[in-house]
Amino acid sequence: MTAFVPAELSPVRAAIDRLPRVRLAHLPTPLEPCPRLSRALGDVEIWIKRDDATGLAFGGNKARQLEFTLGEALARGADCIIQGAASQSNHCRQTAAACARLGLECILVLRRDAKSSPVQGNLLLDHILGARVVWTEAALGPDLEAEKHAVGERLRAEGRRPYVIGEPGAKMLGAVAYLAALLELHEQMTEQGLTPHAVYVCSAGPTLAGLALGARLLGDPYRVVAIAPIRWPDDARAQIAGAVAAAAAELGVAADLLPEDLHCHEEYVGPAYGVLTPEARAAIELTARTEGILLDPVYTGKAMAGMIDHVRRGVVPPGATLVFIHTGGTPALFAYADELVCPAASRRQPA
Ligand SMILES: Cc1ncc(COP(=O)(O)O)c(C=O)c1O
Repeated sequence: MTAFVPAELSPVRAAIDRLPRVRLAHLPTPLEPCPRLSRALGDVEIWIKRDDATGLAFGGNKARQLEFTLGEALARGADCIIQGAASQSNHCRQTAAACARLGLECILVLRRDAKSSPVQGNLLLDHILGARVVWTEAALGPDLEAEKHAVGERLRAEGRRPYVIGEPGAKMLGAVAYLAALLELHEQMTEQGLTPHAVYVCSAGPTLAGLALGARLLGDPYRVVAIAPIRWPDDARAQIAGAVAAAAAELGVAADLLPEDLHCHEEYVGPAYGVLTPEARAAIELTARTEGILLDPVYTGKAMAGMIDHVRRGVVPPGATLVFIHTGGTPALFAYADELVCPAASRRQPA
């Protein structure tokens, strides 16, 4: 399936193919029309790219990224992998699954938060997949990153060969993975005769970086619109533009993408990261009840709520085709049962 991406991009593909990589994801993921969801929203044609079907213990965007990060880890001779984030992290769950598959020990540094008890959703899967959990009170971001590296140093002192999935390398490789995903999607859209107005995705990080870089290399034939799941304390656009530049440099391509070129909407986060909003709950129900597709409460539910709001407010032109990239996260549904079934519970304290 290489026929539809312009020949000028062959060197980009070749550069991607030269990076260490371990095949983990089920690719290409399907691109599906959503006629009933489209009708429910009015004059719009919605398609969903099913990156929730990448495999690795219930799928998601991180399977693509892990092909490169764990490829690098194996190339460096690692015998254990350290990752960490919020207690319901999808990245951690998919890392645990990938490590199980590759016979690597997985250590997860997880933040104790509102969703760490009872053991449910992604955290339940981390345990079943055999990951070792190290609890921390550190805030998401630089503090938690430092904890991951501290765990790595302790393991190194014990004679182990740890690989920390951390910054800035993980962001760069995540961007490379989603540049490859954009090329895959572009081929599918060309095959289907789709010329979308925009591609929507949930991201405030490397997923957006890779998609925006891919679109730029193709001459920006459509907008890549990200709905952020989190408000990072530092300038998210600058960070993402940094990941674009790092990925472009790694692949030896020229792409000058400025922070202000990125479409990244923070207004659908709601009170905080991980707190279900009424709009996300409504978007989850609408997508489930029109298409039988499950979104999640932390990421894709909010992204779909953002896209729906753009349709309803006329931010996208009438008759537009929109592609929504479903980045996964569905195991978290089970950790949000109370809020999903009883909306009053979503007014609880943030995670
Ligand atoms: C399901 C899901 N969607 C989207 C994202 C956002 O990805 P990014 O790291 O690009 O912000 C994540 C990140 O953890 C995720 O788990």
